[in-house]
Amino acid sequence: MDRVNDAVLDVLFHKARTHNAWLPKPVPDALLRELYQVLKWGPTSANSCPARFVFLRSAAAKERLRPALSAGNVAKTMAAPVTVIVAYDLRFYDKLPKLFPHNPAMRDNFANNPQLVEETAKRNSSLQGAYLILAARALGLDCGPMSGFDNAKVDEEFFAAGKCEDCGEEFFPAGHVKSNFLCNVGYGDSSKLFPRSPRLEFSEACTLM
Ligand SMILES: Cc1cc2nc3c(=O)[nH]c(=O)nc-3n(C[C@H](O)[C@H](O)[C@H](O)COP(=O)(O)O)c2cc1C
Repeated sequence: MDRVNDAVLDVLFHKARTHNAWLPKPVPDALLRELYQVLKWGPTSANSCPARFVFLRSAAAKERLRPALSAGNVAKTMAAPVTVIVAYDLRFYDKLPKLFPHNPAMRDNFANNPQLVEETAKRNSSLQGAYLILAARALGLDCGPMSGFDNAKVDEEFFAAGKCEDCGEEFFPAGHVKSNFLCNVGYGDSSKLFPRSPRLEFSEACTLM
């Protein structure tokens, strides 16, 4: 596999920023569908794919989220063209016969081990959330991830009712889906960026053994 060029690294990492202000440019549903078609190929353990994504685009959907948001996250979330609830399905193992067909025992490995289910769902949905951020950048979009919100309120509002009104999908069985983090998506207003904070040096974060 060839190394990608520096321009790609800039888009994905070096020059990519976390955005808090958004240009008034909509994100078409077709692009959100394309975003999923890219991010879905990121790896997860046992190909479990536990993440579930709720794309909030309408004002009405955003209003349902508002009461759960930390004060500092309200204005930018309401202004973003799209807010994604990155969630995980604790019954992800029911899809393993499709996702991991060469090892039928894998479903029951999880079904009989709730601690492993929780660990796997959280770890891998976080990874899939990161794939979402990088895929969005690769498609020319910007992101603003957020953990400053009340997960229990989001879970009650969006996942506990046993159905997801408007979304036309069937993967929100009552109580099985939990929120992980939120991610605003759109076209960021670079003029409103804060100065970038540093990262740890190699010697602070890494060891070669
Ligand atoms: C999982 C996660 C949760 C975050 N939560 C919040 C948040 O609740 N509110 C906020 O303003 N920024 C939040 N951030 C943004 C981070 O502070 C930001 O990504 C980090 O400082 C790096 O900024 P940069 O990408 O511009 O370098 C979050 C980022 C991540 C990845």
